[in-house]
Amino acid sequence: MSVKWDKSQLVVAAEALRAGKLVAFPTETVYGLGADATNPSAVKSVYTAKGRPSDNPLIVHIARPEEVLHYTESIPPVASLLMKEFWPGPLTLIFKLKPNALGKEVTGGMETVAFRMPDNEVTLALIEATGRPLVGPSANTSGKPSPTTAEHVLHDLQGKIAGVVDDGATRVGVESTVLDLSSDVPTILRPGAITLEMLKPLVPEVVEDTHLKNQEAAPKAPGMKYKHYAPDTQVVMVASEDWPSVKEWLQTTPLNVGLLATASIYESLDKNKIVWFSLGNRDSVSTALSHLYAGLRDLDEIEPKLDVILAEMMPEEHEGVAYMNRLKKAANYQYFNEWSQENEKI
Ligand code: TXA
Ligand code: MG
Repeated sequence: MSVKWDKSQLVVAAEALRAGKLVAFPTETVYGLGADATNPSAVKSVYTAKGRPSDNPLIVHIARPEEVLHYTESIPPVASLLMKEFWPGPLTLIFKLKPNALGKEVTGGMETVAFRMPDNEVTLALIEATGRPLVGPSANTSGKPSPTTAEHVLHDLQGKIAGVVDDGATRVGVESTVLDLSSDVPTILRPGAITLEMLKPLVPEVVEDTHLKNQEAAPKAPGMKYKHYAPDTQVVMVASEDWPSVKEWLQTTPLNVGLLATASIYESLDKNKIVWFSLGNRDSVSTALSHLYAGLRDLDEIEPKLDVILAEMMPEEHEGVAYMNRLKKAANYQYFNEWSQENEKI
């Protein structure tokens, strides 16, 4: 049995971590699956619990920026600027690893290592109480949407972890931005709430990994190559100009349809034909982002099972880049206009 702890029980949770057990923790992005980063067998059990491919490196979570110095050769000047501006916060930075400073289980055998200082008081206190850095992949079964509540964590990992520290729903709702500072050109490997537009003033030369624009290109972050974020139910993306065709299609389709969209879209459709999970107001991409994974999980659990989840697309700028990055993977690049033609018979 995995237990739920609240923030008054951090001593117990820290004790479990020091004993090499797995403890899920809250962050501002998604819940993480914590283990002592300096304990190889504890880190290995993270991969087993998640069913995660072992070549996919983990992010090391720290409570103070200066802890990075124990594990890296040097901190480039731009990194100091970024840490001052965005830590604690949803920005993961990749540095060159000091040889053998951390085990292969943490880095996937790479010569670099990822660090992040999460913006969550409870987890910063947990790291301090443990006295060790913590690895923290998202606390979901590999391939499923990341968990944004303690209940999501237990849904996936009940019985596989000692417990979860519950601090309610997370604020951002998708994983941190991953920025590689280990090569010549600072490169965004995974988009998140710290956007390209926010990084540019401090890092004018920053670029996005080419795979983010071109789905054929190989991603530099090993984790970005796997099928990801996907519920069992088929997800199909709807562009803003395609909602009138959805309205028409709904009149005749025999399918059980879920809708992951903002209120004005829902209002424009025949409500008897759909099960709705709200992404909030049309003008707030950050609200949509914070509800995306919860919505995918929620609609996936509806009984009788839905045949398809139609999900609203957002403009690909600012936080919309992170939103669309996760949604495209969840939908396996299926768009309503093509999908509905291919499925005309049904
Ligand atoms: O918001 C987050 O980052 C959450 C919370 C819990 O902190 N954690 C998270 O961890 O999303 P995870 O393991 O699910 O994703 C880590 C990503 C993967 O895509 C991994 O391949 C990449 O970061 N990564 C880690 N270390 C790397 C390295 N040295 N070089 C390139 N990519 C790396
Ligand atoms: Mg993950």
